[in-house]
Amino acid sequence: MREKILLIDDEEVIRSVATEILTGIGYIVETACCGEDGFQLLLNSSYDLVITDIKMPGLSGIELIEKIRTDISSDLPIVVITGHGTIDTAIESMRHGTQGFVLKPFTPSELCSTLEAAISKSRTIREKIKLKALFPVLEVNKRMVAETNVSTLIGIIVEEAAKYTVADRVSLMMVDHDGGLQLKAIQGVDLPDEDERYGGSYRLAEWVVKQGHSFLLCERSMAESPFNQNSFNEQISSILSVLIILKGEIIGVLNLFHLSNDRIFTNSDLELITILCGQAAIAIENAQLYERTESQYFSMISTLASAIEARDRHTADHAARLARCSVLIGEEMGIDNDHLHIIATAGLLHDIGKIGIPDHILLKEGKLTSDEYEVIKLHPEIGVNILAKMGDMEQVKNIVKHHHEYHSGEGYPVGLSGDNIPIGARIIAVADAFEAMTSTRPYRQAMPLERALKEIKSRSGSQFSPDVVNAFIRVFCRHGIDCMNKVSLYGRFNIQF
Ligand SMILES: [Fe+2]
Ligand SMILES: [Fe+2]
Repeated sequence: MREKILLIDDEEVIRSVATEILTGIGYIVETACCGEDGFQLLLNSSYDLVITDIKMPGLSGIELIEKIRTDISSDLPIVVITGHGTIDTAIESMRHGTQGFVLKPFTPSELCSTLEAAISKSRTIREKIKLKALFPVLEVNKRMVAETNVSTLIGIIVEEAAKYTVADRVSLMMVDHDGGLQLKAIQGVDLPDEDERYGGSYRLAEWVVKQGHSFLLCERSMAESPFNQNSFNEQISSILSVLIILKGEIIGVLNLFHLSNDRIFTNSDLELITILCGQAAIAIENAQLYERTESQYFSMISTLASAIEARDRHTADHAARLARCSVLIGEEMGIDNDHLHIIATAGLLHDIGKIGIPDHILLKEGKLTSDEYEVIKLHPEIGVNILAKMGDMEQVKNIVKHHHEYHSGEGYPVGLSGDNIPIGARIIAVADAFEAMTSTRPYRQAMPLERALKEIKSRSGSQFSPDVVNAFIRVFCRHGIDCMNKVSLYGRFNIQF
């Protein structure tokens, strides 16, 4: 139960008798001795029902009802309590949208049955409103389905569930490979206390998974479960624990908690969250599939990249080092995550065309003749031809094709200049040069870092885009030589290479 009722009557005895009857059957009752005080309480707090006397000094019952309807709510249930003398006025009050009246003196059952009827009517109205809320849930589905990152998606599910039910706490746990539960997201809890507070939630989720169906627990039904208030180290008034089921298999549990006494979950909350969880299950499966495909794709790309480097062991790891540095420069320039992935892929593949350059030229340790250099210059376009068969990689191909263009327009293969060069290609050009300068080759030592930095700066505006050089310098100041190492990307991007 736990509906919160405001009782307004100037007679002390009526207030105390009615309060005793109503609290006895589980309602929360607050009282006011006049219309003005009652109205003030209504402004400051929310109630599920108002009981008001008609004849009161000051603001009369009818005036109060009119004020409630105009200033507070057009559908807050109101029950009128009145003596025989004002029965006509009471009937008149029905025209203002009251839900019933009780004649003084009343028996407990008269009072209770009128209230139950009014409250049940208002519950039905509330249920209808909740069902209307289903439409936005369908909108949420679009948001969930569009998300391909599993952790971001789980965050969206928790956020939306909290929004729709006004829950104080929401947590989502996923079933791991061993059948255990892993907490994936929480809202409404301070993280330092997470373990202590969430001990009870784990046990609850484990129990719900074991039972094999979702639960709506209020104080009364909690007593029939293995849980009580003490299970959670804090006051819990109502719990909604909904299974996330995919193709008949439980993959997770969404737990929602109301902590305060004046809120409980309803059956329509349960229905709403069950629908949300059904959609969430499909969205999670999609995102997991996407992540798996993406990691397979990246390992294929890495294999291709190592095929290039296998021909020249001295340049081992060049592409991966350059790609990591390029991602950091791109992030520094405000490039979004999707495009950073494209830049990373292009970085790994930028020299794939070298597969088509004869060994005696590619691996020559002395100075190249101008004819040999012309052959080397073919590698960006050979690379594009190799990638042509790989389907949807237009932006990657474009970066690979132009990674040797110069800001001044004097590069190859096309002679593009300035901003006409794809941003990814401009970034890779700087990272490529820096990686090559700072790595030792059999025919030369690695250049000292300061000299390499000076060299990059000196080519800003001629070979390299000044914006990229500036971003690179900021990245270098932050990470030093580590800007090309794996550690620089840990926990920040969903990229493994
Ligand atoms: Fe190249
Ligand atoms: Fe390179």
